[in-house]
Amino acid sequence: MQVGQFFIKKEERPSLKVLFVAAEAHPYASVGGLGMVMYSLPKALREIGIDARVFIPKYALIDEEKFPLKLIRTGLKVPTGNPKTPELICNVKFYQPENGAPIYFLENQEYYEKRANVYGYSDDPTRFALLSKGVLEFLEESDWQPDVINCSDWQTGFLPNYLKTLYQKTNLSKIKTVFSIHNLYHQGINDHHFVSEMDFDDGKSPVAPFFSSRLAKQNFMKRGIIYSDKITVVSETYAQEILTKEYGEGLDELLRELRTKIFGIINGLDYESFNPATDKNIISNYTRNDLKKRLPNKIHLQKEFNLEVNETIPMLGMVGRLDDQKGIDLLFPILETLINEFSIELVVVGGGSGQYRAFFEDLARRFPKKVGCHLTPDFTLPRHIFSGSDIFLVPSKFEPCGITQMEAMRYGSIPVVRKTGGLADTVKDFNPQRNEGTGFVFEKFDSYSCLGAIVRALETFKYKEIWHKLIQRAMIQDFSWQASAKKYLWLYQKLVD
Ligand code: GLC
Repeated sequence: MQVGQFFIKKEERPSLKVLFVAAEAHPYASVGGLGMVMYSLPKALREIGIDARVFIPKYALIDEEKFPLKLIRTGLKVPTGNPKTPELICNVKFYQPENGAPIYFLENQEYYEKRANVYGYSDDPTRFALLSKGVLEFLEESDWQPDVINCSDWQTGFLPNYLKTLYQKTNLSKIKTVFSIHNLYHQGINDHHFVSEMDFDDGKSPVAPFFSSRLAKQNFMKRGIIYSDKITVVSETYAQEILTKEYGEGLDELLRELRTKIFGIINGLDYESFNPATDKNIISNYTRNDLKKRLPNKIHLQKEFNLEVNETIPMLGMVGRLDDQKGIDLLFPILETLINEFSIELVVVGGGSGQYRAFFEDLARRFPKKVGCHLTPDFTLPRHIFSGSDIFLVPSKFEPCGITQMEAMRYGSIPVVRKTGGLADTVKDFNPQRNEGTGFVFEKFDSYSCLGAIVRALETFKYKEIWHKLIQRAMIQDFSWQASAKKYLWLYQKLVD
């Protein structure tokens, strides 16, 4: 469905209350793009008058010295549905940042406090069922009650399910839910590609008790999709793609049935935090009108990774989770050729799967003056890459939205992307005849197509004036949250009216 254009004037607008529930939120506990969105979207909504707040678990990694949390509820009893241990006891903590949305944390010693990481435990189903139910239990007795709860991804898929069943007779029954799909690939901890007929979850049976083995087999994502009032998908193209067998991850038929409640809304960037003119994390600040000042960032990046220092060498960058989705397999057969034939440099930053790490580590060992990598997530290095590299690679197999290509463009690094999901919606292919476009786009998921786009970029890089204009066009694109936040507002209003 297309998001409507209509927008109520500020003075006529009721002040809406929206609670975002998610597994992660920047800067408290952030693993990927979802965490970033949980920071910047609520903040953008507050700027247009919505009382947006956030709720996540209180993981051990959350730094209470840096963020002094206020204990606002102790001894919250969360029913488990399991007669042996009928309830889990939680606390709720609260934090009001100077700039951004207020945030609640669900505290539980066993399930969050003792865990160093956000995800990756065999009892994640219990941990996230606890989050969904804990939020509802807290809200039942809270003075502040949202009009809309906006859930995100499988971890919060049970919340709309609980709300529409167990909590229908409570004071929460009028609350509407939006379920945001950031990545359909992950639907729970069970691999949905290999579910036996016996374990198939039709989504209609009651949610299993907390510690039962059935809980892990239920499809959290599917339930979020079925029981929520509206669904958002993080780009318009991905919203269309997931209706097909190729991208639908086994849920395409269900999604086609429910298509009238699905809305594609592209993510944005927090333009205050990602601004090359003011960013304190980069070496030299610049705007699109004084690109000479961008150069010290490239020189610094070359030095930082111990590469040959030479401003004329095209520098390629990659940032983010290194996993299957990101299309790194396409680079396996071509990177060595690019290094030898085109004399490129490459810098990679991000955590991820062993095989990809091994691939980049091996390249860095064999080409120490050409390839540099830092294979754990980092806050500052990505910005050094956005501001110092010339070309930015995102050859994803699928990409619900993708944020790094927008960050790269904002800092003037030209993206090479595959035409899928949010990449298709944010990068326009360079057209040399008309001198148009903001990057280099390829369609087919194969190494030749990818190589073709990278070579086109490298050839264009030789024409300084044309490249300069390309950077300026990329930097001038508006990826701020303003437009998308208004679309969310429109959707929330439609729901509560
Ligand atoms: C997931 C998706 C990514 C998207 C992010 C935020 O990480 O894989 O494409 O940008 O969520 O919505």
